[in-house]
Amino acid sequence: TFVVTDKCINCKYTDCVEVCPVDCFYEGENFLAIHPDECIDCAACVPACPVDAILDESDLTADQSVFLNLNREMAEACPNISVRRAPLPDAEKWAGAKGKIDELVR
Ligand code: SF4
Ligand code: F3S
Repeated sequence: TFVVTDKCINCKYTDCVEVCPVDCFYEGENFLAIHPDECIDCAACVPACPVDAILDESDLTADQSVFLNLNREMAEACPNISVRRAPLPDAEKWAGAKGKIDELVR
């Protein structure tokens, strides 16, 4: 399954939702999540994300492994999103930032 990681936080470019054939993205306040049971592993969303936030589960680093459960948890709690929106206002500023997991709004 594919997983949204910390790079999405405070950016939320939403280009990913437009290319997903099964509409399995869910929208948190400052982060998008993929529902792991709905993702069909097509990888279309990977190149669509301008900040490379989406990774295959098997490519997650030890630090990023927490995002697998986090995607499930948030996908189950948040509304579906299938239409692209404007990125968050400070997306450019946050695009290269490190340690963004502390910024995640659940
Ligand atoms: Fe959707 Fe494919 Fe990305 Fe899974 S890998 S979230 S099915 S676009
Ligand atoms: Fe996030 Fe990238 Fe999608 S920043 S909203 S995963 S396009």
